[in-house]
Amino acid sequence: MSSILPQAHDLVVVGAGVPGLAVAWRARARGLRVLVLERDVPGAGASSVAAGMLAPVSEADAGERALLLLGLDSARRWPGFADELREVAGVDVGYRRTGTLVLARDRDEAEALERELDLRRRLGLRAERLRPSQARALEPALAPTVRLGLDVPDDHSADPRALVRALCAACDAVGVQLRTGACVEELLHDGARVAGVRLGDGERVAAGAVLIAAGAWSAALPGIPADARVPVRPVKGQTVRLRDPGFDPARPLCAHILRWEGGYLVPRADGRHVLGATMEERGFDTAMTALGVHELLRDAGELLPGLLELEIEELIAGLRPATPDNAPALGASGALRGLHYATGHHRNGILLAPVTADLVAAELAGEEGAPRAFSPDRFARTPTGAAA
Ligand code: GLY
Repeated sequence: MSSILPQAHDLVVVGAGVPGLAVAWRARARGLRVLVLERDVPGAGASSVAAGMLAPVSEADAGERALLLLGLDSARRWPGFADELREVAGVDVGYRRTGTLVLARDRDEAEALERELDLRRRLGLRAERLRPSQARALEPALAPTVRLGLDVPDDHSADPRALVRALCAACDAVGVQLRTGACVEELLHDGARVAGVRLGDGERVAAGAVLIAAGAWSAALPGIPADARVPVRPVKGQTVRLRDPGFDPARPLCAHILRWEGGYLVPRADGRHVLGATMEERGFDTAMTALGVHELLRDAGELLPGLLELEIEELIAGLRPATPDNAPALGASGALRGLHYATGHHRNGILLAPVTADLVAAELAGEEGAPRAFSPDRFARTPTGAAA
């Protein structure tokens, strides 16, 4: 608890990952005085590990209709978002309209892929069945053992590390303040509304509103009242970053994003590839394991044998911020005035960046925000501890 402090900022953002930076940029454009606090360097969490798939269609799940609509909305905003960042920040965020091929290696996977195709047709999403020869005509380096394919022409990619650089530059250009190495130790409030935050060195930073955009760490900030807390947990993803030493832009190893059960490969325009990713519930552990790397390379090599000739540039694991219903928490808490969230993006943080920024910044400026399905209040606990 704390008495109200003099306000130097309308909004303090906790976390300089993609969601926090994107909201900060948009909020500043709406006239708010914004300070972003980052304990490490910008993008140090999941944003630097993400492969950057913009994949609402491939990731569609029958039970997550609101999330699908949000993802499709954000995918439509992506071309303008990338253009605007290039203009404002002078940074190309690597937005590539390559489309995605989803691949099956055996009969079980082929049957599962048929079901996925059926679901996408029922949802009105574009996806076409590909015979093995058709898949190999699109991607000649695919193994002859590919059993079935799905062409998903509307799922693309961007480069999350370039996106972090672009958002930092865009924030700087419009006057967002960014402090790195600033560890937020506590949310300050008077029981009814937010007053600001306390930093590790004891400094108190006053603000009219605080946005929690701390990824997998969003539930861990002391001071958030229990009924205003969003139960975000970390889901570990190990990735392998590869580089083609003999890269010829006219003959890339693969041009599409490739997906299969348990993995994906995202090619960049410069001959680099991101191979991902495990899904592991191991708390805040980010160690790379021999088994994780082995399985990723084994599965990818089965589908695209030439991949095993690439050079390994980096092995890196990150923590997806997951909520109990896999959907993000976007907007104001009903339990504490001035507390806002942009977190819980799980597998879709890069895809959802434009829509998160627009909707959360709109609500911060007093306009309509995200649909109720994404309210942080859906996780509120009753006095007995049950979910509301
Ligand atoms: N977006 C893919 C992943 O989270 O691994």
